[in-house]
Amino acid sequence: MPLIPMRVLLDHAAENDYGVVALNVNNMEQIQAIMIAAKETDSPVIIQASRGARKYSNDAYLRHLILAAVELNPTIPIVMHLDHGNSPETCASAIEQNFTSVMMDGSLDAAGEVPSSFEYNVRVTKEVTDAAHAVGVSVEGEIGALGGIEDGHGAGLSEEEAQEHLTDPDQAEEFVALTGVDALAVAIGTSHGAYKFKKKPTGDVLKMDLIEEIHRRLPNTHLVMHGSSSVPQELQDIINQYGGGLNQTYGVPVEAIKKGIANGVRKVNVDTDNRLAITGAIRKVFVESPEAFDPRKYLVPARAAMAEVCKARMIAFGQAGHAGDIPIKTCKEMIDFYG
Ligand code: G3H
Ligand code: 13P
Ligand code: ZN
Repeated sequence: MPLIPMRVLLDHAAENDYGVVALNVNNMEQIQAIMIAAKETDSPVIIQASRGARKYSNDAYLRHLILAAVELNPTIPIVMHLDHGNSPETCASAIEQNFTSVMMDGSLDAAGEVPSSFEYNVRVTKEVTDAAHAVGVSVEGEIGALGGIEDGHGAGLSEEEAQEHLTDPDQAEEFVALTGVDALAVAIGTSHGAYKFKKKPTGDVLKMDLIEEIHRRLPNTHLVMHGSSSVPQELQDIINQYGGGLNQTYGVPVEAIKKGIANGVRKVNVDTDNRLAITGAIRKVFVESPEAFDPRKYLVPARAAMAEVCKARMIAFGQAGHAGDIPIKTCKEMIDFYG
């Protein structure tokens, strides 16, 4: 099966009331972990790479590793998505490299540091949508801004600043009408990374009501939740038990995400939980087997730990069991759909 555009998968998810976890990758083991989980749960998958991931791995490695996943898993639909593209040029280079879906994140300036103007966001996102749809590639935009993005240029917005840049439903409606994006990332109080909330979040910081309002106004737009790791206590504990130094923190509860899925959320971004799982597993081997030096000794349990997190999210969000039902279309076949 070819790589599929994200629009095809999210349309199916909307028709069948489920959400899809979008998982970040930087290397072979992370791609393998996702495919282990997808195979075991019969799930379609979104594999996403940030600008940082593309720089770390090199596009050619990423492309060939993902194509290996396609070759080895012919029954699993796979979307290859660019996470947080910062400019039309970054999105264009991703499309050249076989990505079947791109995010143009115009919510921040091109350096990823400060919130941009609405006009700038519309201009760059529309430019990307026009170019991507001409070749059948899907586009995610973002309105409102999240905290905690680290892109090598700056640390982005703080948790507190992010609370001041939540999505305005009026702007969301206008943004979708002006840009024609396939999916819309909204800011509802989450932030990237492990340190999202200082206590278990309630509705005053994690604004699920805002999702309901945006979905009411844009019932046909696929909503995206970024910064949606749950930061499970047990993964924090493993890291700290084996010499780590995480401060107590709280993520987005899976139950809240399920509420989002019932209100139009179709794509749920998760990276940090996998980073925690991998780090905990590696720390455990380092402490328990200080004599070990074969990387496979710690990468095998690290990969397995990530696969468990991926499996749990695939089951919880409802994509499990749907790999075989997606009406497969290639990017080429999507050109007419947009035409
Ligand atoms: O959006 C943030 C993702 O977790 C990717 O993070 O930019 O460090 O690769 P990164
Ligand atoms: P987390 O840091 O919560 O995993 O969010 C990842 C994300 O939003 C990637 O775009
Ligand atoms: Zn994100």
